Amino acid sequence: MNISIILAAGESTRMKSKLSKVLHRVAGKPILEYIIEASKGAKVEKNVVIVGRSGDKVREYFKDEPIIFKTQPIGEGIPYGTGFAVMQATEYIEDDSTVVILYGDTPLIRESTITNLFNYHKENDLDATVLTAILDNPKDYGRIVRGENGNVLKIVEEKDASEEIKKIKEINSGIYCFKGKLLKDALAKIDNNNAQNEYYITDVIEILKNEGYSVGAYVIEDPNEIHGINSRAQLAFCENIMRDRINQYHMGNGITIIDPDNTYIEAGVKIGRDSIIYPGVVLEGKTEIGEDCIIRGDTRIVNSIISAGVSIESSTIEDSFVGEDTKIGPYAHIRPNSRIGKNVKIGNFVEVKNSTIKDNSKASHLAYIGDADIGYNVNIGCGVVFVNYNGKEKFRTIVGDNAFIGSNSNLVAPVEVEPWGYIAAGSTITKGVKEGELCIARAPQVNIPGWVERKGLKKQSNLGGNNK
Ligand code: UD1
Ligand code: CA
Repeated sequence: MNISIILAAGESTRMKSKLSKVLHRVAGKPILEYIIEASKGAKVEKNVVIVGRSGDKVREYFKDEPIIFKTQPIGEGIPYGTGFAVMQATEYIEDDSTVVILYGDTPLIRESTITNLFNYHKENDLDATVLTAILDNPKDYGRIVRGENGNVLKIVEEKDASEEIKKIKEINSGIYCFKGKLLKDALAKIDNNNAQNEYYITDVIEILKNEGYSVGAYVIEDPNEIHGINSRAQLAFCENIMRDRINQYHMGNGITIIDPDNTYIEAGVKIGRDSIIYPGVVLEGKTEIGEDCIIRGDTRIVNSIISAGVSIESSTIEDSFVGEDTKIGPYAHIRPNSRIGKNVKIGNFVEVKNSTIKDNSKASHLAYIGDADIGYNVNIGCGVVFVNYNGKEKFRTIVGDNAFIGSNSNLVAPVEVEPWGYIAAGSTITKGVKEGELCIARAPQVNIPGWVERKGLKKQSNLGGNNK
């Protein structure tokens, strides 16, 4: 069996955050989730996460996942260090298992890297294997000390290293593979006699080596993968790389991204072929974009399904569905729980909330459509307001197929406009409109000839010109 021990109990003071470091998000997903996914993908059957003081929120977030959580006691007088963290998982390590140690703060680690590490470890019949990297600037990392024949002898921490050892460019990633029994036995032998008075997991390597076991190293190709997050700057660094990976993935799938440096697509988003994404677009959560869509401008789409052929410009869409060939924006806001049909137009400055709008309907300018069920081929004029709220409760409005709502009308809910109902511009509808009726609900126009003259308004005017 493959077991992972994922270390996430460190204090992460440099984040200056109330939130546990591993719950901070990279491309929309908590850091720890990346590691768990990579581990599972690499056929690890049992994942043990070691959490520290802020572990409750972490447990809560992953409560539906088959993950074992173990809390590392943290406080004054209590031992500390990566070795002490691994010790917390001893009870879950089976003798004949292969154990991989991972960190909860390295979201860029790839599933393939963990798989390669397992394969290298098993194919070379090693007792312990360290995942290492060659860095131009190895500062602050533990250095890999190799013997004359290239064997790994030990790992020395920067703080314990001589000037000679500090020159070594091969570093310890902190990721290792061990045979279960050997790891447990060696853990019982480590101490904290070092510059930081910590229990170092790295000491296990030297112990096993000295006992005659075989210790190897697998060098990672892309050192970015082991980049840990200890600060907001490192969070941004990883975000950048992850975003680029996501964008590369979509481009590889046949999506045009005009300017990948300025396009923000979260990890869970799906996009269909031949869609074109312009700069400034933010696609979040479980959003799915169909084929042949064009998305431009300051558009943000959250947890929404956008069907094929839709075009969207500078708009926000949240928790909603948009049907094929519909056009949205610029500056539209589709709020949660809206379902918009095919070939619909939601134009400039239109807000839609908790409403359904069926195929071929149009609201081209400046309208508020809240809590409404709108049929097929309906025309909503400029400035129409669905008056859905009386200060206490919300009510729904129904608009039947082929209805026409004239500009600047108010539909005071609850109210129904039946199919082919026509509403004259400027009407305030409170009683409903029957099928095929024209409804004019506005004060009749009154014209009073000569009124301005009689009031002497022209004489009083000092505008010059036409004021005799
Ligand atoms: C560790 C390695 C170092 C390696 C580096 C790679 C040791 C002694 N050193 O250094 O060789 O180059 O990682 O990044 O292992 N953690 C706990 N409990 C603890 C202490 C740490 O869970 O008591 C967790 C942290 O949350 C973090 C991980 O272990 O995820 C690494 O801890 P960190 O303090 O960053 O390790 P380093 O000393 O930097
Ligand atoms: Ca560190």
